[in-house]
Amino acid sequence: MQTVQDAPALRAAIRGWRSKGQTVGFVPTMGNLHAGHQSLIKLARARTDRVVASVFVNPTQFGPHEDFERYPRTLLQDQTALTDEGCDLLFAPEVATIYPYGAGHSVSLHVPQITDTLEGAQRPGHFDGVATVVCKLFNLVQPDLAVFGQKDFQQLKVIERMVRDLSLPLKVMAAPTLRADDGLALSSRNQYLSVAERARAPLIHDTLLKMRELLAKGHAWRALEQVAAARLLRAGFVPDYAVIRCAEDLAEPADGRREGLIALIAARLGSTRLIDNLMFD
Ligand code: PAF
Repeated sequence: MQTVQDAPALRAAIRGWRSKGQTVGFVPTMGNLHAGHQSLIKLARARTDRVVASVFVNPTQFGPHEDFERYPRTLLQDQTALTDEGCDLLFAPEVATIYPYGAGHSVSLHVPQITDTLEGAQRPGHFDGVATVVCKLFNLVQPDLAVFGQKDFQQLKVIERMVRDLSLPLKVMAAPTLRADDGLALSSRNQYLSVAERARAPLIHDTLLKMRELLAKGHAWRALEQVAAARLLRAGFVPDYAVIRCAEDLAEPADGRREGLIALIAARLGSTRLIDNLMFD
């Protein structure tokens, strides 16, 4: 696998493939890759001739008091994991390549409505940073297909809307969430958890399952949100939200609606913020 840091080298490699009529799949990441990321590479690998991954810890999507500085940077291990997965090229740019005028002076994209709620409300500016960097990466890589994990469900919706609204010529694919045996969704942030916190963390997935079970038994979604938040609080989590929403736009469901719903939770456990979700199919 080739690793490149700058745009001309990236474009040259992709031009070479394109000249042979090959298709390009893309998996953008912030590195510290785990089995969840590897499954995204696999999905791209199965659908396109060439696969590009990016590793870039994007400063504009972190709030001032978030974990940008301590976000794990593990490029050597990431290179090994990507090579093992059959990735063709790793793009690992410097901040100045992505933000030539500085991260604070960049053109910024705002995807309206869908970003007003949940993560968008808890982390002001977060999705502007995500949309901006992903659009820049799409411009650089110009993929036919880009794969994103469903664990960051709202992010996936933001990207889908951006691609459609800006008429970007690529397909966005959603990849299922990978979980540990006890149900905890794989995430680079899980490694911040202490041993005791790690043992409690699966309660998030368990609570999502409970919400689904109780909704199927006829409970009203509003009541279930309270049940879920209380359950998390009792176990020592500080929930930011535990909600049931319409999967297509994350709006509150009409009373009695049972189809196309999703439960989403964000909760702090000690100093770690965990998110997860579950579709109610
Ligand atoms: O999900 C992530 O890792 C990041 O938000 C992304 C999509 C790579 C943009 O920085």
